Amino acid sequence: MDITTTPAWLAAQKSASSLAQTTLRELFARDSHRAQSLSIEVALGEGSLLADFSKHNLDEQALENLIAIAEHARVSELRNDMFEGVVVNATENQAALHTALRSPLETSVNVNGLDVMEEVHRVRQQMNVYAESVRAGRIVGATGKKFSNVINVGIGGSDLGPILVHEALSHSSEPAVRAHFVSNIDPTDVRSTLAQCDPESTLVVLCSKSFSTAETLSNGKIISQWLADGVGDAHVGKHIAVVSVYPEKAKAAGIVADVAFNMWPWVGGRYSISSAVNLVNVIAFGSHAFDEMLSGMRVMDEHFLLAPLRQNAPVLMGLINVWNRSILQRETRAMIAYSTGLKSFAAYVQQLEMESNGKRVTADGNPVTTSTSAIVWGGVGTNAQHAYMQLLHQGTSVVPADFIGVAETPTSDIDAHDALVANMFAQAQALAFGNEAEPHRTLPGNRPSTTLMLSALTPRTLGALIALYEHSVFVQGCVFGINSFDQWGVELGKKLASEVSAQIADPKAGVGSDSSTAQLVQWYRKHRSNT
Ligand code: F6P
Repeated sequence: MDITTTPAWLAAQKSASSLAQTTLRELFARDSHRAQSLSIEVALGEGSLLADFSKHNLDEQALENLIAIAEHARVSELRNDMFEGVVVNATENQAALHTALRSPLETSVNVNGLDVMEEVHRVRQQMNVYAESVRAGRIVGATGKKFSNVINVGIGGSDLGPILVHEALSHSSEPAVRAHFVSNIDPTDVRSTLAQCDPESTLVVLCSKSFSTAETLSNGKIISQWLADGVGDAHVGKHIAVVSVYPEKAKAAGIVADVAFNMWPWVGGRYSISSAVNLVNVIAFGSHAFDEMLSGMRVMDEHFLLAPLRQNAPVLMGLINVWNRSILQRETRAMIAYSTGLKSFAAYVQQLEMESNGKRVTADGNPVTTSTSAIVWGGVGTNAQHAYMQLLHQGTSVVPADFIGVAETPTSDIDAHDALVANMFAQAQALAFGNEAEPHRTLPGNRPSTTLMLSALTPRTLGALIALYEHSVFVQGCVFGINSFDQWGVELGKKLASEVSAQIADPKAGVGSDSSTAQLVQWYRKHRSNT
């Protein structure tokens, strides 16, 4: 089905043309309840998440049309399929069951006729016991020293999620260990981390769903040698834990680890933060924090499953992104978190959204008929205001923004925190309503944004926020008609990188390469460090 030929899509386009001349100022003036009717608050047990969608260029009719698009795209049915373990990732013949990772044991989720919940809880329990033992000093290094440094080695989903969670939880609690994150194959990355650690008191978590990622293998080998030099060849395994679907591949790559935590092929890398990929943070903040994060995710999962589409936060967020991207043709979206604890949130969502929905063919292999994922970028406020917000206010492109704020501060500096939040609200206000002045000072306004507020930055609210984005990405993928769970676009680069590596090692292998690459290889060979 081509979504763009459905009556719902045509009606949404009609809404867009009829709203083209209507400003946000007018939409707010028309309806004094606009903020309430376009906001959704999700109670999280402890704390809550408020999503305010009122500053988007749409009215109730447009929203109705978007919901009709979701119905045509079978969002509810596909969502249920995903939660039930149906193969929704057809090009890899896999289910996408990140939601099972936070489901209670009594839920039954079947993959190929097998209930996976027992295994999920076994690994969760294994992680919790292991992490608590490291924290308590019952599991120690080869020379008897307590682990005071933990290095997470991974890239993409095996890195961005753990970093985000680490920074967010460090916001209000002291980690029990010093956590480090090594991702890039750039050897200066791993070496600068190792320079800060003592092998005797360092635990390394090698995270790789596939265990075939060049960056992680390279860093794993460098670190294994560093450990061998520090604690002796025979004891390296005591200092390494592996998280992977294929722990045996670590061994085949010459990496020894005494302990391994399973993942499953049906958890996508960028959806893996509720799996053992989060081990570094279970060690740093304890199993209770992890359980709380999973509970927050679970509340959002249930909200996504049960709330009617019009009151469903991930559904509205996904549809409004479709509205901005595919109907109004806004190419990029900014993500600005007004919380230092969320300073890596934009990078996290960037992978989640762009790797999931940056696709050009539909799930059945035909060219898409809509524009797909927005280019997601951003950072942290108020720093953003002193760097790039100028363009959002007065540039020639309209850039929708997601603002994310937190009500409570863990510090006693209430005035400073009030100022932080005031700045966020003011940015959204200035974008939406602008001002009138002489030309250089005029802000046209009518520029859309979503505001998300967390009552506090806790493991629970963080979990809910992450799940909100996961599901909104899913909703967009359903509308685009694509498979949000594969990432074939990254494969060619990996293959070419290994061919170019061969050319660097032996220039004769460069035969057949294009003249630009051949020239670059030649130039690099001339200038690189001597081996
Ligand atoms: O190359 C892209 C990718 O496969 C991401 O999807 C993934 O998160 C990352 O690489 C790391 O993969 P792995 O966890 O298998 O090492």
